[in-house]
Amino acid sequence: MKVLCFGSLNIDYTYKVEHFVRKGETLSSESLQVFSGGKGLNQSIALAKAGVEVYHAGAVGEDGGFLLEELKGANVDVSHITVRKDIRTGNAIIQNDREGDNCILLYGGANQAITEEQVDVVLECFGAGDFLVLQNEINKLSYLMEQAHKKGMKIVLNPSPMNEKIFTLPLETVDYFLLNEIEAGQILHQDVAENFDGKELAEQIVQRYPEAAVVLTMGGAGAVYMDRKECVVQPVYKVPVVDTTAAGDTFTGFFLGGILKGCSVKDAMNLAARAAAIAVTRQGAAPSIPLLQEVERFF
Ligand code: RIB
Repeated sequence: MKVLCFGSLNIDYTYKVEHFVRKGETLSSESLQVFSGGKGLNQSIALAKAGVEVYHAGAVGEDGGFLLEELKGANVDVSHITVRKDIRTGNAIIQNDREGDNCILLYGGANQAITEEQVDVVLECFGAGDFLVLQNEINKLSYLMEQAHKKGMKIVLNPSPMNEKIFTLPLETVDYFLLNEIEAGQILHQDVAENFDGKELAEQIVQRYPEAAVVLTMGGAGAVYMDRKECVVQPVYKVPVVDTTAAGDTFTGFFLGGILKGCSVKDAMNLAARAAAIAVTRQGAAPSIPLLQEVERFF
């Protein structure tokens, strides 16, 4: 069984700010740091650090060489990443405030230049039972899901960042949804009340997509796993927050990593919560993702 993450690779420009810039305001930042990022890259690195063999597919421009080095450094196979001469690497402008929260502006770049030919060539190397991990930062997602489903691959979808494109995807082919409460509400076409019940929300997704398992992440309120047979509630580990960027990606990678290595759902959820707790104590996206040994030592 192999794991293919077909997803975004971004250069993250992270600005430390006193508060998020407001409409019409010009604000001086306190610092600028450049990190490897992109939900796809972050999730590949988290999977690899959780101890799983991962293949990353996607596209960068000629300015994205250091992203490939970061992936290689984490033992991710990069042979399915195309380097495009005609387009620059995707990037993210990230504001990180005093509370550690962020807001992100994306430029798709090469992430939005995936072709059906590339998808066909990459999927040739994978087959029934292999896992395909997707987020919503590349184009050709529908085609990818249809072709992977035909091959009998297991499809994992993190529908983030959420937008109208998600509703054009063959969501009935998804085996695992990993999403937050806002994304869950949007998929269900309903508003989520402030005092929502995570179990109820996850159950509604399972009712809508009965073949799928759901991992609902709820920030400080923890996470819920739900499928037709099992429900696991995972509280959050309280830590001092420095930067929440890539915490969700870390959770995704370590949860799947745990499941793929044969852990119970309960243990995989706990592993993921510990990994995400470490990630938020560190600055940046990919560099904040801990090693499995650190996660196992964390209480
Ligand atoms: O999930 C965090 C990621 O979102 C960042 O690394 C940024 O690149 C955006 O894709």
